[in-house]
Amino acid sequence: MARTSVLIILVLQKCSHDWATGIEGYVLFRKDRNKGKGGGVALYINDEIECKEIRSDEMDMTESVWATIKLGKKTIRASPGIVLGVCYRPPGSNLDMDRALFNVFNKVNTNGNCVIMGDFNFPDIDWRTSASNNNRAQIFLDAIADGFLQQVVAEPTRGDAILDLVLVSNEDLIEEMVVGDNLGSSDHELIQFKLNGRINKNKSATRVFDFKRADFQKLRKLVREVDWTEEFMGLKVEEAWDYFKLKLQKLSEACIPRKGKKFIGRSCRPSWMSKHLREVIKKKQKAYREWKKGGISKESYLIEVRICRDKVRQAKSQVELDLAKGIKTNSKRFYSHINRKKTKKEEVGPLKTEDGVEVKDNLGMAQYLNKYFASVFNKTKEDLRDNGSMINGNEDMEVDITISEVEAKLKQLNGTKSGGPDNLHPRILKELAQEIASPLARIFNESVNSGVVPYDWRIANIVPIFKKGKKSDPSNYRPVSLTSVVCKVLEKILKEKVVKDIEVNGKWDKLQHGFTKGRSCQTNLISFFERVTDFLDKGNTVDLIYLDFSKAFDTVPHGELLVKLDKMGINRKIERWIGNWLKGRLQRVLLKGELSSWREVTSGVPQGSVLGPILFNLFITDLGTKSGNVLIKFADDTKLGGIANLEKDRDTLQEDLDDLVNWSNRNRMKFNSEKCKVMHLGINNKNFSYKLGTHQLEVTEEEKDLGVLVDHRMTMSCQCDMAVKKANVILGCIRRGISSRDKEVLVPLYKALVRPHLEYCVQFWSPMFKKDEFKLEQVQRRATRMIRGMENLSYERRLRELGLFSLTKRRLRGDMIALYKYIRGINTREGEELFKLSTNVDTRTNGYKLATRKFRLEIRRRFLTIRGVKFWNSLPREVVGAKDLSCFKIKLDKFMEEMV
Ligand SMILES: *[C@@H]1O[C@H](CO)[C@@H](O)[C@H](O)[C@H]1NC(C)=O
Ligand SMILES: *[C@@H]1O[C@H](CO)[C@@H](O)[C@H](O)[C@H]1NC(C)=O
Ligand SMILES: *[C@@H]1O[C@H](CO)[C@@H](O)[C@H](O)[C@H]1NC(C)=O
Ligand SMILES: *[C@@H]1O[C@H](CO)[C@@H](O)[C@H](O)[C@H]1NC(C)=O
Ligand SMILES: *[C@@H]1O[C@H](CO)[C@@H](O)[C@H](O)[C@H]1NC(C)=O
Ligand SMILES: *[C@@H]1O[C@H](CO)[C@@H](O)[C@H](O)[C@H]1NC(C)=O
Ligand SMILES: *[C@@H]1O[C@H](CO)[C@@H](O)[C@H](O)[C@H]1NC(C)=O
Ligand SMILES: *[C@@H]1O[C@H](CO)[C@@H](O)[C@H](O)[C@H]1NC(C)=O
Repeated sequence: MARTSVLIILVLQKCSHDWATGIEGYVLFRKDRNKGKGGGVALYINDEIECKEIRSDEMDMTESVWATIKLGKKTIRASPGIVLGVCYRPPGSNLDMDRALFNVFNKVNTNGNCVIMGDFNFPDIDWRTSASNNNRAQIFLDAIADGFLQQVVAEPTRGDAILDLVLVSNEDLIEEMVVGDNLGSSDHELIQFKLNGRINKNKSATRVFDFKRADFQKLRKLVREVDWTEEFMGLKVEEAWDYFKLKLQKLSEACIPRKGKKFIGRSCRPSWMSKHLREVIKKKQKAYREWKKGGISKESYLIEVRICRDKVRQAKSQVELDLAKGIKTNSKRFYSHINRKKTKKEEVGPLKTEDGVEVKDNLGMAQYLNKYFASVFNKTKEDLRDNGSMINGNEDMEVDITISEVEAKLKQLNGTKSGGPDNLHPRILKELAQEIASPLARIFNESVNSGVVPYDWRIANIVPIFKKGKKSDPSNYRPVSLTSVVCKVLEKILKEKVVKDIEVNGKWDKLQHGFTKGRSCQTNLISFFERVTDFLDKGNTVDLIYLDFSKAFDTVPHGELLVKLDKMGINRKIERWIGNWLKGRLQRVLLKGELSSWREVTSGVPQGSVLGPILFNLFITDLGTKSGNVLIKFADDTKLGGIANLEKDRDTLQEDLDDLVNWSNRNRMKFNSEKCKVMHLGINNKNFSYKLGTHQLEVTEEEKDLGVLVDHRMTMSCQCDMAVKKANVILGCIRRGISSRDKEVLVPLYKALVRPHLEYCVQFWSPMFKKDEFKLEQVQRRATRMIRGMENLSYERRLRELGLFSLTKRRLRGDMIALYKYIRGINTREGEELFKLSTNVDTRTNGYKLATRKFRLEIRRRFLTIRGVKFWNSLPREVVGAKDLSCFKIKLDKFMEEMV
């Protein structure tokens, strides 16, 4: 990977120093100011980098300079490199000059990458929200949004204004930006960053199954021919499993060819390039040589050119259409098609050790990360795994795992996911569901009933996922386990049994969301903020405390966890199996085909397994408070909220916090005090301070709560801005990466990749202000305008032609679906606390009429439990009376069809 190239870029104005001369080792491009003395813009590029200036008449009208650079030795033709531009827009710039500049942006920002830098003199843009009250600034903002450019400078560059901007087509281009220092006599801060050119990928030697060429028919036949009962005769669990694994691996090798793993990167061939197409291209190149030699006429050559162009276009649009059709089940393909990593998270390192030594090679990084991950485990003296000879207390019922259960779970596997360390790929298991269900059921049955967990089910390959912060710091990576897929199938079966046992035994934890069916981030947020907005509406001030456990999943102590499990009343055989599954685990880090050595896992529940999260939830079941304050948990996200009008309210909250700290000490799971925050809500909040142990909690005005940005005014504006930004980034990728403008291609991509960002948990954060509602809708406007034939139609017309709803209407629909779930569906448990059926039941209207409630504040009026009631009550009886959710949706859509 080619990285870091030194570049110096300057915007020169009022500079007395003559910067615009040469600098040793750099190529200079400059444009002097037309009128007046001094000034102008210049771009210096390290002369080891291949670069070329771009000029056009339009560019000449503006005070800007442009060049393309190519990084790395090999760039394929499809990748035009990176366009760099430096601009100066004077404060008194008129509209025509601005337009000329924006046109240049559009020219350079077609399908490659670009980085546009400069001083644009828009002091009154709020870059956090991308908003401005100034008309001209608004035009500028629209122009960059239409071009899907992102502005990445977040700190003031002169005084307290952000004047110098860096606009990029893709945020990943820029790394480690620092604003600070200044150069010579300028009053502007210097902006420094690293430009990221990933071009030369190191090819990995791993060879993976090529499922496209697999003969599953033959594989099924071969597997059916094995007499498992005979083969398993006299074998213990571990031996039976090994036999099964080796047999299946061997037969798979015989029926599925392998291929070199294609890494997503610019050096690989575009996905539409078929063998046939390569021949067409060769033919065209040959025709070119012939024509140059005088062998054929220019016309004959041009015919070849046209044929080739048409074929390429056809091939591309076919690939794009296939992509769009399959987008719901496989979004990975989209990102590999547009040559972009889905997120930056996939790139690791280079790492720095504590002594400041840089580690760059994959193996070294894998070793170092594994060492780090293992260092957070809480090493306690562990009992040896019991070998199945004894079982505490009463013998419990035999666990019966049926063949049909196993087959059903195998069929549900996602064939595009990765395999675990046992090399049994989910795609193979899924294809062979019917054939292998019986031997697996037998192995599962014996494993659970004897308590023996085969070695392969206790080892994990760890994939480091970058979170945020410095890439060189190993603590900024989250270890996610890839474990045996077969074992996960068993885990799923056991999980259902465990949940059932707990429900039957009533050890239910109502504070917890994200555990059972129907509970989600959204239900968590709604339950919690229902109470909070109600407190506020009644004139109280409220304090929210966001708690953060450090390395929660990895530090769960096994001993304590098992003691708690024992009290939950789950089947003891399953309990013992879980104990043995947790103990004696090993892990190694897998990084681009390189494997570290093994390390022991002495605490924690594996992240990435099926049982991990539910075990974690069970572990924190007894985390609670005694007071009437609201506590809610979602995996390791816990928050506490309460009225904070008076000193005594504060004391109650503080007591609750003390209880939580007491719990954390008893359970050896530490809070990350630096990351625990308090947020003060309500006018005249007294801003009390709180202590977590001895640490005074930091105050925050906005907090990312389960992926939603909540701020202390609860207006949801920040969240709207964030959602719009995310959606626009993906829309930009689609515009750049997909050449088709057909609705068959763009609509499915929009629905699958863009719209979800605008609707994630939206029933909780539904916009309060018209301007925010407009901003959200604007993304859909932009998306629909990209489609061929829609350019000149009104938005309403476009929606009708494309069969889409406005986002506002979709939110109303979503509200009703949420209400249905609360009142008649899967969430009735929470629904009872959120809604009351109306007592004056009028039998002529719908039988589930809700009581309306009083409110005072706008934030309350806009909250789901208040805003949803009116429309719900207006739904006809036959809609709300639908027998299940899918029926309800059909009837609701029919009812809403007549609405605009
Ligand atoms: C590619 O990776 C291998 C092993 O990880 C390393 O030995 C080799 O030098 C790398 N090649 C390049 C061009 O970086
Ligand atoms: C399978 O996994 C991929 C990526 O991990 C996901 O996008 C897709 O929706 C999943 N498919 C199904 C059927 O769950
Ligand atoms: C493990 O637990 C002990 C006892 O509670 C604690 O003192 C220690 O700091 C923990 N170690 C780690 C690495 O968390
Ligand atoms: C299990 O271990 C105990 C001692 O810890 C031993 O007595 C017993 O024979 C072992 N059972 C099996 C089945 O290996
Ligand atoms: C699983 O074990 C139970 C009880 O030992 C037994 O009744 C059942 O037939 C077994 N099922 C399979 C598929 O082996
Ligand atoms: C912690 O909780 C335990 C049990 O609930 C109690 O006995 C103990 O006094 C508490 N400790 C503190 C410091 O509050
Ligand atoms: C609490 O803090 C906010 C800003 O964080 C401030 O506006 C307000 O005046 C403070 N309230 C009191 C009573 O100090
Ligand atoms: C849309 O309008 C523009 C100019 O107003 C025109 O050039 C273009 O051809 C129109 N497009 C369609 C599809 O009608």
